[in-house]
Amino acid sequence: MKFFIDTANLDEIKEASSWGLVDGVTTNPSLVSKENISFHDLISQICHLVDGPVSAEVVGTIYQDMYREAHILADIHTNVVVKIPLIPEGLKTVKLLTKEGIKTNVTLCFSATQALLAAKAGATYISPFVGRLDDISANGMDLIRDIRLIYNNYQYQTQILTASARGPLHILEAAKIGSDVVTMPFKVMMQLAKHPLTDIGLEKFLSDWRKTQENQPA
Ligand code: G3P
Repeated sequence: MKFFIDTANLDEIKEASSWGLVDGVTTNPSLVSKENISFHDLISQICHLVDGPVSAEVVGTIYQDMYREAHILADIHTNVVVKIPLIPEGLKTVKLLTKEGIKTNVTLCFSATQALLAAKAGATYISPFVGRLDDISANGMDLIRDIRLIYNNYQYQTQILTASARGPLHILEAAKIGSDVVTMPFKVMMQLAKHPLTDIGLEKFLSDWRKTQENQPA
């Protein structure tokens, strides 16, 4: 399973990349708005930090605007994946971009039928938002299960990119279901490595070791 980091913060991307865990980056307009740098410079800098897919989102809502923006974004770097919202105009844009060989990440997916449409349009990635479904008392991971089943039934090549992951359980479930990719905030990536028994065990090993050193004959 591929790990993408869901942030537009360059320091977080640098730190997570140094652990060797980052296969790609996803951004969205809300994340970009928190950074004090122009969108294009930001995407370009991210592409130079991470050798993998970098999702950059269009903000137009009609086909002509999305298509134009998509080309500008794709020209920044070969690793740019154009993020397109799951609306009819978006699907039309994805179909055309796919024909032109431009990679797409169809975002704001909240149903399996929407995911089916994205696959039929030829999307490279589909981004179902599990955390936002959980927020409204639906089950986000059930959506990932349904999409996995449907994509397997018809051998769609569109990759499932579990998004809006809010904690380690989302990552665990996504891995068990067979999500191709999961994108997560920096904080969640750190939480994955943490276990209280690891910390307690390490502390005990080190204190036992120190005692042996202290008892060594001079
Ligand atoms: O990649 C989409 C993701 O950033 C949305 O996350 O936590 O805002 O629902 P969240």
